[in-house]
Amino acid sequence: MALINVSTFKDGSVQFHLSNGKISYIMMPFYGKLLNLYVGAPLPDNNYTYLIENTFRVLANLPFEDGPGSEERLPKIEQLRQEFPEYGRGDYRIPAITVLQENGSRISDFQYMDYVIYDGKKKLEGLPSTYITDDSNAQTLEITLVDEVTGLWAILSYTIFSDIPLIAKSVRIEHHGQHSVQLQRIYSATFDLPDMQYNMSEFMGAWARERYIYTQPLHFGIQAIGSTRGASSHFSNPTAIFARPDTTQTHGQVFGISFIYSGNFDIHAEVDTYEQTRIQVGINALNFSWHLNSGEIFQSPEALLGFSEEGYNGLSNIFHRTVREHIINPYWSNHRHPILINNWEATYYDFTEESLLQLAATSNAQGVELFVLDDGWFGARMEDNAGLGDWQTNLKRLPSGIASLARKIHNLDMKFGLWFEPEMVNKQSNLYRSHPDWVLHTPNRGQSVHRYQYVLNFARQDVVDEIFTQIAAIIRQTNLDYIKWDMNRFITEAFDNTRCAALQGEVQHRYILGVYNLYERLLEAFPHLLIEGCASGGGRFDMGMLAYSPQIWTSDNTDAIERLYIQWGTSYMYPLATQGAHVSTVPNHQTGRIVPLATRAVVAFFGTFGYELDLNALSDLELEQVRMQIQIYKEYESLIREGRYYRLISPFSHDRAAWMCVSQDCRHAIVAEVSLAVHPNKANSRLQLEGLLERSMYCIRKVNFDSGSSHRYLEYGIRSGAELMRIGIQDSSLVERDYQATLFVIDSLD
Ligand code: DGJ
Repeated sequence: MALINVSTFKDGSVQFHLSNGKISYIMMPFYGKLLNLYVGAPLPDNNYTYLIENTFRVLANLPFEDGPGSEERLPKIEQLRQEFPEYGRGDYRIPAITVLQENGSRISDFQYMDYVIYDGKKKLEGLPSTYITDDSNAQTLEITLVDEVTGLWAILSYTIFSDIPLIAKSVRIEHHGQHSVQLQRIYSATFDLPDMQYNMSEFMGAWARERYIYTQPLHFGIQAIGSTRGASSHFSNPTAIFARPDTTQTHGQVFGISFIYSGNFDIHAEVDTYEQTRIQVGINALNFSWHLNSGEIFQSPEALLGFSEEGYNGLSNIFHRTVREHIINPYWSNHRHPILINNWEATYYDFTEESLLQLAATSNAQGVELFVLDDGWFGARMEDNAGLGDWQTNLKRLPSGIASLARKIHNLDMKFGLWFEPEMVNKQSNLYRSHPDWVLHTPNRGQSVHRYQYVLNFARQDVVDEIFTQIAAIIRQTNLDYIKWDMNRFITEAFDNTRCAALQGEVQHRYILGVYNLYERLLEAFPHLLIEGCASGGGRFDMGMLAYSPQIWTSDNTDAIERLYIQWGTSYMYPLATQGAHVSTVPNHQTGRIVPLATRAVVAFFGTFGYELDLNALSDLELEQVRMQIQIYKEYESLIREGRYYRLISPFSHDRAAWMCVSQDCRHAIVAEVSLAVHPNKANSRLQLEGLLERSMYCIRKVNFDSGSSHRYLEYGIRSGAELMRIGIQDSSLVERDYQATLFVIDSLD
């Protein structure tokens, strides 16, 4: 199937048209510059030269003074929509590249040279990126632009997948010249759009309230999100949405952007005076530089652009599919993640081997499959001020050793998992005492400390090697099934004492490459290992991390009501099955709120399900509920993992929240609603569903969470898909009390 067409037209123009019938992305070289002619809903092949912005403006031929037809009336370069814009020759917007040259110049002039097209997609060395399992399902176009003076080649790579409206884009800079240069900025993608009629949504937050959605119209100037913390962070997420103003969850044209990267990033939209919008995605240019000698290569991370005409829900499903089919390990796309118990909120640092085994045994009896021992099992860790960096058993706490505990857990027929914080060190550790210089710090300046810990210099291979050796030894000793990889502080004093002054701008990017390297080596050595990402909760929830850890701890906030907001925002770009979600105790440790056990489970079902409380403290009736929850989850897990997801009612604007998942064949669905505040004598309302077959008849059942009842499901009725989508479920069968949840399961009778 040809996904990329190259056409030469009578007017001499050569046009590249990437299309799979769901999206079109059209470009052409114009006087050496690669222009974007169109991106959006699919178009037929045609000559689209007329889409070049050619309104005559004063000083019109300025940028092309050396080019052919300098007397011709040409558009200004600053009004053209470009794929690889540069600063210094008439375009005053933010460029895609800045190259510092030996003579101090930062001007470049990348001219179109040639292109290649091939089936499939190459792996980006050392970086996470989308992959393809069957080369016939994607095509890649590589366009080479050359800057003659420096000898730099910019190879722009575009991959289109056969049936997802999404383009993956990255840039490789190859140095074919003689003199060393320094890249000071290199964006992975520039998307120039012809107008500014978009609302930009971003996913901002903080610890315990990650990825809340904020939406505002584009305005003149620059709207930017980003991180300079060394991790994508709780504060901002490397994803953004640009939607036409009338877009709803189900209707409207919408673009989604994601950056497959976990370090410092920048996503911005710049609206110019002609009301054009330039969206750029890449490594944050603050304190970034990269030295390139002749013969060397710099590979940018990958950016994704998805497009939907079916509103925000449509866009979410595009990104959910992309993550499931092209980013996370295919094994975990197709298998249920084990139901886990994590001891953190059950015990914190107060545990013994005996108490852990009791927790494991009780969990196991209810159907839990994986026991995760969180922080505190290693080194001299009695609380959070010691031990990081020493990944050997804390014999004071576990006198018979971690291998013995692992054996006992495995003997229960449970999987065993351990917490690590590989990138960090406490000064109270053997690792720090032997290698104080391994901490990231700037000479002659103080070292910022957070939670008594310091950041190891993962830009150094010897540091990564040492941590690999230690973790690998524990994995072998314990036959470990799972790792929770935490990261509890951001980077400060980024300086690498093994590198010269000119290379210091590389430290933060090299750091994250070191993190990826450790992930890759661990997974190569132990392919069965399931790694859950974590950074004080959801401080590094991004598609870069998902390439290695198919589930990420969404937030340290385990309150089910708070999670409605967090999981709602996270669901825009990330599939439910990637979002770690646990049933925790009440009153909740972060908020003090008391929420029914059933509601805590319903909210956690729509993530990677687990428990994080002392199950031994529950009553027999509650334990029976837990057993039932696990059975229900197992029954519907594949629908939640593989189905289409629809946000129905937003907790941000209502006193209830509702959402649903529908199987790909539209025959089965699961619908949840949770009340935030119930009002007496309230107005009528209905819950309209999505994604069903209008003409099919469906049987609707409500899940009965009451322990002691022999009826797990209560019949609600039989309705056509048309009724369920146009009329909806009547209010009277929905929630009646604060924080109450209702769960419906819906099955086609056809
Ligand atoms: C932060 C994590 O998000 C928590 O779940 C827990 O693992 C603690 N760190 C342990 O220190």
